Amino acid sequence: MPRTSDITIHPTVLIIFGANGDLTKRKIIPALYNLFLEKRLPEKFAIIGTSRTKFSDEKYRDSLLEGINEFSRKGKAKEEEWAEFSSHISYQAADINNVDSYNEFYSKIKTLQEEWKQNASVLYYCAVSPDLFCTIAENISKSKLENDKDRTRIIIEKPFGRDLESAKALNANLLTIFNEQQIYRIDHYLGKEVVQNVMAFRFANTIMEPLWNRTYIEHVQISVTEQIGVENRGSYFDNAGILRDMIQNHLLQLLCIVAMEPPVNFDADLVRDRKVEVLKAIRKIAPGMIDNIAVRGQYGSGWVEGKEVSGYREESDVSADSNTETYAAMKFHIDNWRWQGVPFYLRTGKRLFESASHIIVQFREVPHNIFSNDERNLPKANRLIISIQPDMAIRFQLESKTPGLEMTLNTVNMTFDYSGKTKTDSPEAYETLLLDVISGDQTLFMRADQVEAAWEVVMPILDYWENNKMTNFPNYPANSWGPENAEALIAKDGFHWINLPHKNKSKQ
Ligand code: BG6
Repeated sequence: MPRTSDITIHPTVLIIFGANGDLTKRKIIPALYNLFLEKRLPEKFAIIGTSRTKFSDEKYRDSLLEGINEFSRKGKAKEEEWAEFSSHISYQAADINNVDSYNEFYSKIKTLQEEWKQNASVLYYCAVSPDLFCTIAENISKSKLENDKDRTRIIIEKPFGRDLESAKALNANLLTIFNEQQIYRIDHYLGKEVVQNVMAFRFANTIMEPLWNRTYIEHVQISVTEQIGVENRGSYFDNAGILRDMIQNHLLQLLCIVAMEPPVNFDADLVRDRKVEVLKAIRKIAPGMIDNIAVRGQYGSGWVEGKEVSGYREESDVSADSNTETYAAMKFHIDNWRWQGVPFYLRTGKRLFESASHIIVQFREVPHNIFSNDERNLPKANRLIISIQPDMAIRFQLESKTPGLEMTLNTVNMTFDYSGKTKTDSPEAYETLLLDVISGDQTLFMRADQVEAAWEVVMPILDYWENNKMTNFPNYPANSWGPENAEALIAKDGFHWINLPHKNKSKQ
């Protein structure tokens, strides 16, 4: 069910594995801090950070405060508020591979519960390298820690597997210890404000449904472009590539939200059933056809906002002859009644001209033009533009008469722009998602079959790309819109990628 502010939240202990990592500092702790400021955390809560490095509680808290001051959307923490929040945080150095460490968590949790005179929900957040997910789960089960099905949850970050086989193995492993209702697989795009709004927009407005199909929609574009390169994540990225890093999860989930049938209600499983149906309906692509529907690229050096930047192969921890793609564009067809014949174009890449995520629904042209044949006065097809970030808006582009004595047409926008709110005014995806885990709502999390169905979609492309190396990498310069053949991919169907000028052109 959609969350409301009056939901009862139980006392909670959150154990963060990987507590000294980037994700904890940049996203998890700032999100929890903001939830605390909004009075959304239970009164009785404790955060236990753990990693191999030794810290005192104090030192650890100081490092988190630096993270908040640098990364929180609300800016620097206020002394008193931070003091109160941080009193809920402790740190314990631990060896993830050693069951004894988990028994120490058990003692801590026991003490807290005695103090609170209440049992707590216990959440394990795996903000660690994926090869440790199973070790953590197994050691939880071997230790004294209770695995109460109603109160224990495990949060798994992406990447969830590196292909279909490994994702299936990981699911099978986790499911021997936890049941599906205890597993929260994160795709942080699902927690973004505008992405959640697509559901409201589609399913809370009668006028949308009659238009939302092959009769009125010509094609859909889903675009997530980034200005940044791989930064300090070269060793992870060089083994992954953008197809695994972005398309298998974030972009396919956006496609699901656009294409899904209305669920019966907002029950987590009913919503996820509808998304899985979309993934299953995506047309399978024969290896011989991949070059016709998918394009890959790798960035070279260039200049970004006055600074010279390296090409991908010169980034640290990236192999000098790497064949890993940093850009991908592709076309999918969804074989069902609603979408037959409507292409869905997806593109994403690093070191592109700007950072922007949007979905564009391009409607068909009017069937008959009653206006003049003057090219300047032809009615343009309507467009629905869903800007996810950095601008947040949902815009309908409609044709209208230009005020004046003549009947001339002009494209106008009907815009819902969050009343001028920007990304920094709205809850960060991690705030929404963490609150959902705390309150036990799985709607915005990936179910086992959903992750596997998404891998099934990309596997043919992944295999083909792995078996057929590119000889012309790097094939796009930094600060461009990607390789030229990405234009050709869409141009041969008579369309073009739509780039939106936005208000705050800057790094997201
Ligand atoms: C992550 C990817 O999942 O999403 C990163 O691993 C990418 O490579 C990031 O930069 C983009 O997320 P956002 O929220 O900044 O658009």
